[in-house]
Amino acid sequence: MSKNQNITVLGVFVADTTYRADRSPRMGETILGNSFALGPGGKGSNQAVAAARIGGDVTILTQLGDDAFAGMAERTWLEAGVKSAARRNPANYTGAAYIFVEESSGDNAIIICPGAAGDIGIDDIEANAGLIRSSKVFVTQLEQPLVAAERGLQTAREAGVITILNPAPAPKQPLDESILALCDFITPNETEAQELTGLPVETVDDARLAANRLLELGVGAAIITLGGQGALLHSSEMSVHVPALSAGKVVETTGAGDAFNGGLAVGLARGLAPIDAVKLGCATAGISVTRPGAAASMPSQSEVEALLASAIKEKDYE
Ligand code: RIB
Repeated sequence: MSKNQNITVLGVFVADTTYRADRSPRMGETILGNSFALGPGGKGSNQAVAAARIGGDVTILTQLGDDAFAGMAERTWLEAGVKSAARRNPANYTGAAYIFVEESSGDNAIIICPGAAGDIGIDDIEANAGLIRSSKVFVTQLEQPLVAAERGLQTAREAGVITILNPAPAPKQPLDESILALCDFITPNETEAQELTGLPVETVDDARLAANRLLELGVGAAIITLGGQGALLHSSEMSVHVPALSAGKVVETTGAGDAFNGGLAVGLARGLAPIDAVKLGCATAGISVTRPGAAASMPSQSEVEALLASAIKEKDYE
């Protein structure tokens, strides 16, 4: 199969149950929340939706249960134009996530149960090896089993496909160097970068030290996302801080990292230089945080292009 601009995302869909409240309850305490929403989430699915909304040709590789939440996944992908390579697994449920959103800041705390997607294994990768090999970019995260992520990255690397690992949620054990060496790009946030390297990450300078450590461990380039501070792209050729782009008041940060990864993947699939792909990621994330929800907050291609054009005009970006 010839390689075009396809993006394959290996990852998880879950139904997000989002509770907005002034604060998180303490153990044993019940508090009244401000609002509730049910919507599509899961890092892999969010990244696929983000990439498809801005024009990517995207296929998601996952497992779903045989229930109402699986229907929500399929409707979400259909609407966004994501192709599905999802396997139905009637022995398990489609996953769900509990999301607490702090009313004042829009920041969140999440518990995710991947359900059927927790059963994704090497057999799923083998069954879809042709799809991965024919892609331009392969993206994965750590919500499904690590063995599947590793085999997916291996399959992609062997075929010369650009690989992105978004190491979220942060792994419980340090990742083996053999896995890190399969990553052209690794995209941790501050917390994940800290977990991966053992180094504190709060400032851009901290991020540079952590990114350097990730390079020593074998990744091609580290892109550390820094929330409101933007992102640092660090490789053996360059170390560039890309500021965040604001598109309005921050309403909810759930899915911001996914928006970034979706934008990055599309940029790389289009053959943009990494720095320009990072800017596309920042613009996608900058709009997503102004809206509630995860997949529901992903912007369209025209919205992202308009934000990038205004950033260039205002000289926020060159
Ligand atoms: O990255 C945000 C996502 O993390 C949410 O949609 C939630 O489902 C968890 O997977």
